[in-house]
Amino acid sequence: MFRKQINTRLMVAIFVASSFISLSVGASSQKASPVAPKREQVEAIVKEAYDKFRSDTSGKNADYIPYLAQVDSKLFGVALVTTDKQEIALGDISYSFSIQSISKVYTLALAMEELGPDKVFERIGSEPTGRAFNSVQGVVEMPTHTANPLVNAGAIATTSLISGKDANEKWNKILDFYSRAAGEKLTLIDEVYKSEAATNTGNKALSMLLAKYDRIYADPFESVDIYTKQCSVGVNVSQLARMGATLANNGVNPITGEQVIKRENIPYILSAMMMAGLYDGSGGWAWHVGLPSKSGVGGGIVSVVPGKGAIAVFAPRLDDAGNSVKAQKVITYVAQKLDLNLYSPRSVGLN
Ligand code: DON
Repeated sequence: MFRKQINTRLMVAIFVASSFISLSVGASSQKASPVAPKREQVEAIVKEAYDKFRSDTSGKNADYIPYLAQVDSKLFGVALVTTDKQEIALGDISYSFSIQSISKVYTLALAMEELGPDKVFERIGSEPTGRAFNSVQGVVEMPTHTANPLVNAGAIATTSLISGKDANEKWNKILDFYSRAAGEKLTLIDEVYKSEAATNTGNKALSMLLAKYDRIYADPFESVDIYTKQCSVGVNVSQLARMGATLANNGVNPITGEQVIKRENIPYILSAMMMAGLYDGSGGWAWHVGLPSKSGVGGGIVSVVPGKGAIAVFAPRLDDAGNSVKAQKVITYVAQKLDLNLYSPRSVGLN
């Protein structure tokens, strides 16, 4: 049942992709923020956070998807990618975990590529629900029924917006889009998909409710199936950090230089992440950390620092809201030490 790990467990690797975080400026798509911290400082703080939280065992693996209950809960990886192409990665950096709800961000981005932000807002909306991520009451009681693109109902509806002549064409388009955001070909973790597809009655129920309210835009069960596949895409922390860095870099993947997401759509995507990226934990996260972020029950969290880069952490044990405990701790630590909170004037160098 376990997906094989290719790398050595808890191997510590630091990639030196180029010189220093605040100094190197390459092609126009790979700029360093003028207020970005120095590479040595970032490396030291990421390492400090890694060591500090490495043996933390709070939280527990997701178990409503049988595969996830069996993932080794000691796995732990951290990666940071900057808009000027630098990469720092520590721990279990090659282990492929399922992207889960983080996928919702990139399907939202793809829907906006096709329809633009106004149509997506009209068909999905952008309100936090104040309820659990799989809430049925939310669908019934929210005026839009879909709530926002990052809770399950809104995400399934967003997936249903993606065009294609059949389910296969839609799925391949989504997978290709994620791969371009990561700068590497991503693939489905078949065991996760099968495990989730066999148990996702709740999401099927949400899709039927959405159909009742005319808030799903393709066949409901086909949409749930594509959504389940998108959640089962495998990523490692480095790939996830690159996906985040693409958002931080105006939609241009800093490593490949490709414009993957339209630059004008980035603020909408980041605002959705800030409001609902950590579900019921989003308010507390905005309060303490102030970075647009997205979690997945696979154990990943990616946080975006616009103009500077992104940090991704993978650690399977989750809190009650479905967010990785260790990932939240590492990102909080790094964001505070490096003054990354977007609500703090210090993040733009005003001390
Ligand atoms: O639909 C689900 O329940 C999962 N595929 C994704 C949920 C998820 O990742 C929520 N995360 N924090």
